[in-house]
Amino acid sequence: MTMSNQQPAALITGGTTGIGHATARVLHAEGFGVLVTGRNPDTLAEARRSLPDEVAVLRADLRSTADAKQVADEIQQRFGKLDLAFLNAGLVRLTPLETLDEAVWDELFDVNVKGQLFTLKAILPLLGPGSSVVFNSSTVGRRGVPGQLVYGATKGAVYSLIRTLAVELAPRGIRVNAVSPGPVETPAQTKLGQDMPAGRLETFKQQINGWIPMARPGTDEEIARAVVFLASPAASFITGANIDVDGGLAAQIGSRASA
Ligand SMILES: NC(=O)c1ccc[n+]([C@@H]2O[C@H](COP(=O)([O-])OP(=O)(O)OC[C@H]3O[C@@H](n4cnc5c(N)ncnc54)[C@H](OP(=O)(O)O)[C@@H]3O)[C@@H](O)[C@H]2O)c1
Repeated sequence: MTMSNQQPAALITGGTTGIGHATARVLHAEGFGVLVTGRNPDTLAEARRSLPDEVAVLRADLRSTADAKQVADEIQQRFGKLDLAFLNAGLVRLTPLETLDEAVWDELFDVNVKGQLFTLKAILPLLGPGSSVVFNSSTVGRRGVPGQLVYGATKGAVYSLIRTLAVELAPRGIRVNAVSPGPVETPAQTKLGQDMPAGRLETFKQQINGWIPMARPGTDEEIARAVVFLASPAASFITGANIDVDGGLAAQIGSRASA
C-alpha cells in the first residue's frame, strides 16, 4: 500500500520488541507511516499481532546487505521517501575479557555498528532535506560496567558515527543524532540473563537500578518520546548530538560498580 506523500514515514530497525516496538506505537499515534524490522519469526509474528495494522513489519537481518536493500525497496514502494530512520536494533552480551571470544565480538559489532551503518547507506537515497536519523546508543557507551566490554565499545562507536555522519550529511539537510537509554525493562535484559548464573539477573538489575539518581529504570515509551523529539521540527538545529535518557545515570559520579 502506498501512503500519502504528505504523511511522514519512519523506519525502525529492531522494532518487533522493546524500545523499537514502543517507538513504533508512539510514531503511529503521531501520524507517521511506520515500517519496523526484525529477524526472529516468533517476535515478528507477535509484532504483527500487537502493533496497529497500518504498521508494516518486515523480516530483515541487519547483518545482511541484501536484506538492507530489500528494506529500502519496501520503503520506496510504500512511502516513496523517509523522514525518520531510528537505527535501534541491538544485541547485548555479558563478556568479561577473560572469557571473551571472537564470535561474540563479531556478532555485537556486526549488529550494533556495521549493520546499522550499512542499513543507513541503503536507505540514504530515501532521506531528503528535513529528514532525521537517530541511533540508539547506551549509557554504557560512555560509562564502564564490568562485563559489558564489547557491548560498551559498540555503543561508544555510535557516538563517533553520529558526529561524522552529522557533518557529512548536513549539506543534504539530514540531521543525525543519538539517544542513550539507561536501564529499561525489555526482552534485551532477559537475553542478558542467559550469560549469567541462575538468579544473578535480578541482583544485577537491582544493582544497576540502584545507581540511577532518579531511583527507577526508564520505560520504553520515555525513550520513544526522545526519538520523536529529535525527529520533530522542535529539534531542527540539533545534529551530531546525544540525549541521555537515563534518569541521571551518566551524569553522576561515585557509584561503585561490580557485576
Ligand atoms: N533495554 C535497555 O536497558 C537498553 C539500554 C540502553 C540501550 N538499549 C538499546 O536499545 C536498543 C533496543 O533494545 P531493547 O532493549 O528494546 O531490546 P530488545 O527488545 O531485545 O530489542 C532488540 C531488537 O533488535 C532486533 N534485532 C536484534 N538483532 C537483529 C538483527 N540481526 N537483525 C534485525 N533485528 C535485530 C530484535 O529483533 P528479533 O527479536 O527479531 O531478534 C529486536 O526487535 C538496542 O540497541 C539496545 O542496545 C537498551
